[in-house]
Amino acid sequence: MSAPENIHTQFHRFLDPADKERLLGQRGVVAWLVGLSGSGKSTVAAAAERMLHAEGRFTTILDGDNLRAGLNSDLKFSDDDRRENIRRVAEVAKVFASQGVITFVSLITPREEFRTMAREIVGGNYSEIYVKAPFELCAERDPKGLYKKAAAGGIANFTGRDSGFEEPAQANLVLDTAAASVEECAARLVAYLRGRFAPAGAS
Ligand code: ADX
Repeated sequence: MSAPENIHTQFHRFLDPADKERLLGQRGVVAWLVGLSGSGKSTVAAAAERMLHAEGRFTTILDGDNLRAGLNSDLKFSDDDRRENIRRVAEVAKVFASQGVITFVSLITPREEFRTMAREIVGGNYSEIYVKAPFELCAERDPKGLYKKAAAGGIANFTGRDSGFEEPAQANLVLDTAAASVEECAARLVAYLRGRFAPAGAS
């Protein structure tokens, strides 16, 4: 992508991403977890991160709620704000992955258009993970009390209610949290990612 006018990017002056990857003994990847609020994205990411940490892997989680409390605190839930939220997180994820970090992103990412944008920003390190659970089950779990609040009319543009969620058509992996435990889903995610973060030449 070309830089805006009067901006001179300096990537060529800094260490090559491969230098960081050699240091860490892993390749940077982005596991982009998509799904309804309450589907289990952050829970699965947290469990997968712990498994990888236990075996000496360097990871991070970019969580929608956490980032909306800081970097993205100026954004709400219109389509335009979600697009900007997702664009910023994709750019941050790209930076982490370029430093060799196994990066989990936990964002609803409700539209194919947003996922295409994230995939294009992140590039070849991107994997899309659909954390699947029906709306009714998420509403039943309601870990943050938001489904109850939305049902009472207290939340505008609530995903799955008055703002749409398109089923991911291009997911690399589908984790059905209605059918499998958190531990099972996390283990499947780790197994899938293993082939992607292993350094070239590693068995
Ligand atoms: S996204 O659509 O832009 O990808 P993101 O993952 O950052 O969403 O934020 C979703 C989180 O914000 C939910 O898990 C929930 O805790 C909270 N939230 C607050 N308002 C809404 C809303 N209107 N729709 C969905 N989630 C909401």
